[in-house]
Amino acid sequence: MMISVALSSVWLFLAYVALLVVSVTLLFGAVFSVYVFSRHRKYAHIPGPERSSFFLGNLAALQEGKEQGKAMHDLILEWTKSYGPVFVLYLAHHAFVVILDSDAVKYLLVTSNAPKPRMAYAPLFSIYNERFMGCGLATEVDHDKWLKKRELLNPAFHRKFLMNLMRQFNDSADLLIQKLEKCADGKTPVSMLDEFNHVTLDVIAKVAFDLDLNVLAEEETPFVKAIQLCLKAIMRKFMNPLEEYLPFNGHVRREVQEAIRLLRKTGLQEIERRLAARHQGEQIKDDILGHILRASDFLLNPEFQIENALDEFVTFFIAGQETTASQMSFTLMELLRYPEIEHRVRTEIDAILNGRMAIQYEDIGRMSYTSKVLKESLRLYPPAGRLLRQTVKDEVFANIRIPAHSVVMLSTFAMSRMEEYFEDPLIFNPERFDQSESILKYACFPFSLGPRICIGQNFAQIEAKVLLARLLTAFNFTWLPGQSYDMEDNLTNRPKDGCKTYITRRDT
Ligand code: HEM
Repeated sequence: MMISVALSSVWLFLAYVALLVVSVTLLFGAVFSVYVFSRHRKYAHIPGPERSSFFLGNLAALQEGKEQGKAMHDLILEWTKSYGPVFVLYLAHHAFVVILDSDAVKYLLVTSNAPKPRMAYAPLFSIYNERFMGCGLATEVDHDKWLKKRELLNPAFHRKFLMNLMRQFNDSADLLIQKLEKCADGKTPVSMLDEFNHVTLDVIAKVAFDLDLNVLAEEETPFVKAIQLCLKAIMRKFMNPLEEYLPFNGHVRREVQEAIRLLRKTGLQEIERRLAARHQGEQIKDDILGHILRASDFLLNPEFQIENALDEFVTFFIAGQETTASQMSFTLMELLRYPEIEHRVRTEIDAILNGRMAIQYEDIGRMSYTSKVLKESLRLYPPAGRLLRQTVKDEVFANIRIPAHSVVMLSTFAMSRMEEYFEDPLIFNPERFDQSESILKYACFPFSLGPRICIGQNFAQIEAKVLLARLLTAFNFTWLPGQSYDMEDNLTNRPKDGCKTYITRRDT
């Protein structure tokens, strides 16, 4: 009797728990459905591709596109043909208003400096609970805090500072040339994307932080591996925000956490070294880390600000390395595809150098055709092809009302390929940059525009010219047959097949 009473109480309790779980789930489902419905209503007046699912929005279309080899950029280009320059996309319950209109770009990026949306930049704060880019310059969404940092870091990118970097750019190019000489036999395939990734990492580490990571000597140093692991983790996080919380991925979680700890520990060691030197009466070096330390008020309040200084350390590695490597790889890819353009670049560089090896600061301004080639490469293959911003109030673009607080997506990739803005947009034609740049400016913005324009734009372009000039002077490159010229869209864009080439010495 006692046992059956106890059993029926247990059953009652379990039934009660089950009812509670079902009710909470239903309630949550109902609230979430109302929320999603209200999002759809808010943007119902804006055209856009049909949602294949109430909850997942257009995600299935993106997945289908991916299976057919189309990246999100390609689909955006297709959709603008059907829906015009302003249309709405749903990635799960998030609505993104895609805007491909040059007046809107000018207004959002330059005139009004529209804020960065928290939902897009917050994921970079930490990965797997490990602080990653934190609130560094690129991810800071509070305007006043960002402005203060930017004003303190801007001097590190002034002409005077950049002029002093020429020796370093040349030294890193020397190391790369020495490395490539070992496989310059005309039959060893070399992924130039990998090589550019190594050399740009060597440059940013030495120039910005006075660190020698030995990346060009060893094949895969722990630091290089750590950066690559972090980049992949960011990509996974954007593609699937729940991935971090999935069970059974403890191994990946630990690997990424260790990678982030390695990056930040490397930064911390260098900061501590500098502080110790300063304690001995030495001046803090005037490189990017020196400016970061000042920007972080580190010297005034070390306990509180050290994490901020480390945020910037990680930010500059992430923002300043892969982007330049991709630009270099796409440029080389196009030079090898169009020998007459390659010939013009080589002729210009040979005439400027006249047998000299090292590139001087004055040479950079004289590389006018090479400049146009680099710009055209960024137009067709922008390493960072999309920007996200948020409207502060109701706006009207291309006669369509965009509600206040909407997340808007601006795509330099798509606009640069639209006939409305460029004649024969898919043709690689450096000469199009002969005309006044202001015509192209608001349709082609690979470094963004306005106050939040890339702080490293000039740095990157000087680095690109030095590397390109030095490599073309030393070697001939041949495109490995059978590779595609396609772009892989993994948050940043890079050549899908790694820009593989055969190399021979130029004097042989
Ligand atoms: C070809 C090379 C590069 C390209 C295409 C590029 C592109 C961009 C773009 C599009 C942005 C705006 C991102 C946004 O608004 O979300 C940006 C911001 C930024 N870039 Fe670059 N970048 C390049 C190289 C560099 C280099 C070499 C550095 C550092 C040495 C750097 C550091 C930064 C930083 C710190 C920001 C944030 C600026 C701010 O918000 O004030 N970038 N970059």
